[in-house]
Amino acid sequence: MCGIVGYIGDKNPTEVIMAGLHRLEYRGYDSAGVAVVNDQGLDCVKSLGKLKVMDALLAERPITGALGIGHTRWATHGVPSEDNSHPHFDMDKEIAVVHNGIIENYQALRASLEADGITFRSQTDTETIAHLVRKYYAGDLFKAVQRALQDVEGAYAIGVICKDNPDVMIAARHGSPLIVGMGEDEAFIGSDVPAIMKYTRDVYYIDNGQVCEIKRGQVRIEDLDGNPVTLEMTHVDWDDAAAEKEGFPHFMLKEINQQPEVIRNTLRGRVEEGSDEVRLPEMNISVDELKACQKITIVACGTAWHAGMVGKYLIEKFAKVPVELDLASEYRYRNPIVPPNTIMIPVSQSGETADTLEAIRIAKSLGAKVASIVNAVGSSVARESHGIIYQQAGPEIGVASTKAYTSQVTAFSLFTIWLAESRGVMDKAQAKQMIAHLRAIPDKIQTILDNQDVIKRLAATPKYRDAQSALYLGRSFNFPSALEGALKLKEISYIHAEGYAAGEMKHGPIALVTDELPVVCIATQGDTYEKMVSNIQEIKARDGLVISVATEGDKHILAHSEDIIYIPECYEPYSPILVAVPLQLFSYYVAVNRGCDVDQPRNLAKSVTVE
Ligand code: F6R
Repeated sequence: MCGIVGYIGDKNPTEVIMAGLHRLEYRGYDSAGVAVVNDQGLDCVKSLGKLKVMDALLAERPITGALGIGHTRWATHGVPSEDNSHPHFDMDKEIAVVHNGIIENYQALRASLEADGITFRSQTDTETIAHLVRKYYAGDLFKAVQRALQDVEGAYAIGVICKDNPDVMIAARHGSPLIVGMGEDEAFIGSDVPAIMKYTRDVYYIDNGQVCEIKRGQVRIEDLDGNPVTLEMTHVDWDDAAAEKEGFPHFMLKEINQQPEVIRNTLRGRVEEGSDEVRLPEMNISVDELKACQKITIVACGTAWHAGMVGKYLIEKFAKVPVELDLASEYRYRNPIVPPNTIMIPVSQSGETADTLEAIRIAKSLGAKVASIVNAVGSSVARESHGIIYQQAGPEIGVASTKAYTSQVTAFSLFTIWLAESRGVMDKAQAKQMIAHLRAIPDKIQTILDNQDVIKRLAATPKYRDAQSALYLGRSFNFPSALEGALKLKEISYIHAEGYAAGEMKHGPIALVTDELPVVCIATQGDTYEKMVSNIQEIKARDGLVISVATEGDKHILAHSEDIIYIPECYEPYSPILVAVPLQLFSYYVAVNRGCDVDQPRNLAKSVTVE
């Protein structure tokens, strides 16, 4: 996954582009580049490594011009290198292209261009676009891009500039996200809103198959065949500071600390003050469809899949509908059975995860109704679904998902109440009580956050900080919490960690327990508490380092635990939302103490837009 930015207007394009790329660095950070059109033609600076290397290079050799495009890369075709970094050019360096996505037929295109005498400078798929645009360019850049894209198969969001055209920038999209932002006598392109929201809040979400001719304060949009397209402008009212760290050392910590507000936002507009009714009109599902529903399929990847597992437990317990939970990458290759009246619920923060999108397409083709839980407004998942619950969590920049997870579980909680009530298996009194439990969650999260020093101190102790591996155990609603806790630790601290259903301990993992193994045991009050205590005793008997996550006031568990993290008393089915927070904080502080790059862990990108 990569990020693209472009600018045309009176400002220095390099400054606007670099500011935007910094906001997009979460999308990829192995190399970067900027190209501008000026009196000398196309001028360009590229660098290998993170954007701070580019900043230093540009300080030494500033470039400016009438307009420009920039890119931050996460390699898919061709190793990270200066040659492979974007922008890419045609042979005569007349056309420059930045691209996010994958051109699937690039080998065939490359062979045919090489047969025409074209020499390639890089191993990338993107360079084919630059040569193709040049091939079709006869004075009209817009038409040349339109024509070139007719030869291209795959996913792209591109920005294109030409040395002969200091007053126009072209952008197009198929499968990768792209927005065009408008200002007075200026315009922007970006992979997402935070990239440009320092400068404008008025954006067009460009759709698949659309090509834009962008001039100062103007945009003209057509499809690939030249048919005009009219899009509605969206005014984004996110706070600009939302894309900044707001004084926190890392986005991840900022996002963990945002969770009380995020949960309030997810609930906002869906449960009226004093009401016992959940309203999810944007899901676009009628009560009749909910009543007729035979099966729900949840698909997602990674953390979103863990949220989906909590969703399954909630829906089956309260709404009594069978739920199948699938990793999107498995669903798409396993010939799924979609009986009539199936509702699919994809879950995705970015809304751009390639496997999740493909699962949606398959389910739709087999007749499922698709209603997604998604954070990124206007994202591909949102567009391709029949209905949506927007998480309303704001942009998540830290690569490790935190606030998106808890808001996804909150969204499932809302959906469950709505579904259960609609099907007549939950009465108004119970719905009211459950809504009250949900409303209480933000303050309880705040209590955990206010006491985070305890977790910070634990994470700094050598027995945890220097651990080689860790186990996370939970049962029932908190089995997914164990999976999520382990994922958080491994992805940002690089400590090997496994999440297990505690009942599985005796079936293998207990063999790993030594006096050097931290075992995080989620033992909050609820139906499986006693069982968890038994598991804890088994681990303690083998000298394991038990860290219990327990309910405030639970003294009983003290005797069996090396350390305890308390959370406020909580309605058990919603406890995963609370439990997630100390586990996120523990991973965060362990990773910081180990000197890891928390916001940009190695080998990971924020969203996985290719298989
Ligand atoms: C882990 C993490 C990933 C994502 C997964 C799905 O912290 O962030 O596991 O949850 O890549 O991404 P989305 O939700 O964007 O589809």
